[in-house]
Amino acid sequence: MILAPNTAVGIDDVALHVPKLFISTLGEFAEARGIEPAKLARGIGVEKMAVPDAHEDAATMAASSVLELMKRNDLSPEEVGRIYIGTESGVDEAKAIGTYVIGMLERVYGPGSFQECSTVEFKSACIAATFALENAAYWLRVEGMEEENGEGDEEGYEDSSRRGGRVGIVVATDIARYDLNSPGEYTQGAGSVALLVKRNPRLMVLDPVMGVFTRDENDFFRPIGMKCAVVNGKYSNLCYLAAMDGAFYSYKKRVLGRGMIRLADDECTSDHLSHIIFHIPYPRMAEYAAASIFQREWRDLPRWRTIEEEMGPEPKSEDFEGQKEYLLAEGDYKRRFSKSGKFLEAYGRKVKPSTLISSVVGNIYTGSIYLGLASLLEQDLLVPGTRIGLGSYGSGCSAAFFSGVVGEGVESMAKGKFLKTLNERVEIGLADYQLLHEGEKNESVISPSGEFALVEIEGDGYRRYDFVV
Ligand code: CAA
Repeated sequence: MILAPNTAVGIDDVALHVPKLFISTLGEFAEARGIEPAKLARGIGVEKMAVPDAHEDAATMAASSVLELMKRNDLSPEEVGRIYIGTESGVDEAKAIGTYVIGMLERVYGPGSFQECSTVEFKSACIAATFALENAAYWLRVEGMEEENGEGDEEGYEDSSRRGGRVGIVVATDIARYDLNSPGEYTQGAGSVALLVKRNPRLMVLDPVMGVFTRDENDFFRPIGMKCAVVNGKYSNLCYLAAMDGAFYSYKKRVLGRGMIRLADDECTSDHLSHIIFHIPYPRMAEYAAASIFQREWRDLPRWRTIEEEMGPEPKSEDFEGQKEYLLAEGDYKRRFSKSGKFLEAYGRKVKPSTLISSVVGNIYTGSIYLGLASLLEQDLLVPGTRIGLGSYGSGCSAAFFSGVVGEGVESMAKGKFLKTLNERVEIGLADYQLLHEGEKNESVISPSGEFALVEIEGDGYRRYDFVV
């Protein structure tokens, strides 16, 4: 087969589902835990956390986001060739969560309607959906090349134009759960994001370049059978920053090497990214990531002089007696850099807007970065023709940095609707939150209506779902 040039493939639309319930981190919760609300609002950046009701799990949330995506794009099941699901909240050790999701969707679209759609569950902590997206994009590019080479019929499709219209759906779905009374508790949340992946997308054409970084770490994991993650909190922040740094430099090497981005003498790679969406376990983490990348990017450029005028020169290891003293001075300099005027201006413009939805939903693990994309769309900040960067992180650990160019079609897409939906949620108190967290509430706080629900777990563990009208 002679490969034709890649067709433009990427994200055409984003649909979100978050539970109707939330707990405020700033009132009763902060008081009960003995934490100053200002720490949670500013030091962590989370004001509300989504809480799944008794009838919700990662599968119901995934099915809900896919249904929303299909309805508003008027998609029929036979157009959907792949449903790839990234999750670390899987409901079964063997059965793919996507088969439950397809079962639920067929309650709406009819039995057998998705039988020609394949589904795979991707697990790689919070980076899973990004690898699912990468794979869906490969599938569409290869199909596009085969079509250009007239090889459209080997899977038995009668008409290659129908095949050309096929799309993939990538779903991120997770419940972030840590032990009650632990420092992880205020970085919980729940929700699902469904991405419509297709050729000539409206929202963002993916660049065919991804920088990656992987190494074995014990920053965060959840051994089989455990409901809450084991997390070495502060260490997980350091692993995130080291991996993001590695992935960004892998990306930079590749985009500069290919001539995709060309730098003038006083420019760096991040200058060519109008927005950068980092993985958002809590909004403040995106700020730490931005400070780390910008500090390293800017230090060789003329603009660093302004930073030095404000904060003095960076510490050099040779000026210190021991490694420990040097690391302390370096840590202090980093903290001061992240409070410098120049950094705060760049962060506020390029990164902070992506954290809006996360600040009122909390962590949704692998979908958080795509909540960031939805935040930019909802605020109408995506400008056609501009390149945006995405930095994904999964504990354990891996990071990927990639980019895409905003499509012209973004202008015709609806904006602001999801932010309104978030304002219509129902606040619950500490007692209900704790019962739901511990799985001790059998009745739903709000009875399901017009949504998918878990109705029973049978004696052998098979889960029965329904669409409750
Ligand atoms: N007003 C304003 N800020 C305040 C404050 C106040 N009154 N009191 C404290 N703060 C600030 C602190 O100064 C600190 O900010 P700086 O870093 O600028 O100093 C910030 O609040 C956080 O406070 P702590 O340093 O005391 O941190 P903590 O003990 O609350 O723990 C955490 C924070 C480690 C993130 C913890 O919540 C946790 O373990 N979360 C789960 C793990 C996690 O999310 N890790 C992220 C990386 S791993 C990943 O990304 C994958 C994933 O999704 C899980």
